Amino acid sequence: MSAQPVDRQPGDYQPGDYQFGIYFDALRGRVSDLPMDHATLERRAVAAMAPSLHSYVAGGAGDEATQRRNVEAFSRWGLVPRMLVGATERDLSVSAWGMTFPSPVFMAPVGVVGMVPDGGHGDVAVARAAAVTGVPAVFSTLMDDPLEEVVPHAGETPSFYQLYTPKDRDLAASLVERAERAGYRGLVVTLDTWVPGWRPRDLLSGSFPQLRGHVLANYTSDPVFRRLAGPAGDVEAGVRAWVQTFGNPLTWADLEWLRSLTDLPLVLKGICHPDDARRAVDAGVDGIYCSNHGGRQANGGLSALELLPAVVEACDDRVPVLFDSGVRSGRDVVTALALGATVVGIGRPYVYGVALAGVDGLVHVLRSLLAEADLTMAVNGYPDVAALRANVQRAL
Ligand SMILES: Cc1cc2nc3c(=O)[nH]c(=O)nc-3n(C[C@H](O)[C@H](O)[C@H](O)COP(=O)(O)O)c2cc1C
Repeated sequence: MSAQPVDRQPGDYQPGDYQFGIYFDALRGRVSDLPMDHATLERRAVAAMAPSLHSYVAGGAGDEATQRRNVEAFSRWGLVPRMLVGATERDLSVSAWGMTFPSPVFMAPVGVVGMVPDGGHGDVAVARAAAVTGVPAVFSTLMDDPLEEVVPHAGETPSFYQLYTPKDRDLAASLVERAERAGYRGLVVTLDTWVPGWRPRDLLSGSFPQLRGHVLANYTSDPVFRRLAGPAGDVEAGVRAWVQTFGNPLTWADLEWLRSLTDLPLVLKGICHPDDARRAVDAGVDGIYCSNHGGRQANGGLSALELLPAVVEACDDRVPVLFDSGVRSGRDVVTALALGATVVGIGRPYVYGVALAGVDGLVHVLRSLLAEADLTMAVNGYPDVAALRANVQRAL
């Protein structure tokens, strides 16, 4: 990556300063060749990816109306600028579960990111970018490298593990226990994907990476899975065992068991109804993750952003609310925060960063999002999230 943050004393750096690094680099004749907006990022990343991988990442369920609406929903909200505030320092740090994060952004779990770079190991690229930026990642169950080998690359930045709960309870317990032992700091259980949604683009190309044995490293390295699948090296038997155990259609009755698996903070992903949020918090979960999986699964026609405020209200400040689906810019990050999200998940954009330029591309995407979020706060006169929430308005 050519652009570096400007040189300041530790503590003085604000994410928005990233723009000065880019301008000063250009003055020295090093004009960044990385995209500065999402549309360009997507167009160039798509060109860099194999068509089947691209369709898997970019595609969604059904006619993809939910996916589009996820993105469009952000334009229905705006911010009223406040002047003479002097918001020279913006505090966007977030505290949750006894940890403090420098920014209110995280990388959402993306199962195929492991195979996005040439030669694979995309999860390691994600971890490295987390180490550089301080932006934590939630790593998918579907990884290209075993979870133990990925987390050290994140350095001091906390990592989280996302569980697709297998039907086999011993396997679920083993995966969670491994994540805990390896140093992951929280468990995110995804509820909306016990069966894949109807995805025309992938159906058309017959593209489903797991069925070709990709991104199954957490399974093939697991002793319980090995007992289910037989000897390592038999890819076909491994895929067959994976298909048989993958999707556990959890119910409320399973929550106590899930809770018993770990002392780590437990977050439920895919909660979009306030009653579900309330019930989950009452049952002792530590975080609610409002998401419609980017329109790949729950193709209900409503954007996740439209559903967020009621979920936030139901949580009533008892637990952090994580949010993703449709975030494409720093302004979108700010809008989700204004509507009550505690932290905001980035999905497809960071995958495109990896596709375009590996760790450097991913770091650039994150820094650009954070810079835009920070500068949106600055020029609108909001020193913190409270000011932001007081000045958000729905456009007619
Ligand atoms: C290619 C791809 C793979 C994904 N894999 C997972 C996964 O393994 N686990 C999970 O909980 N969510 C997964 N998601 C959903 C993301 O965590 C997130 O909810 C979604 O990307 C948000 O939508 P957006 O990318 O359009 O903003 C995946 C999303 C994409 C695009």
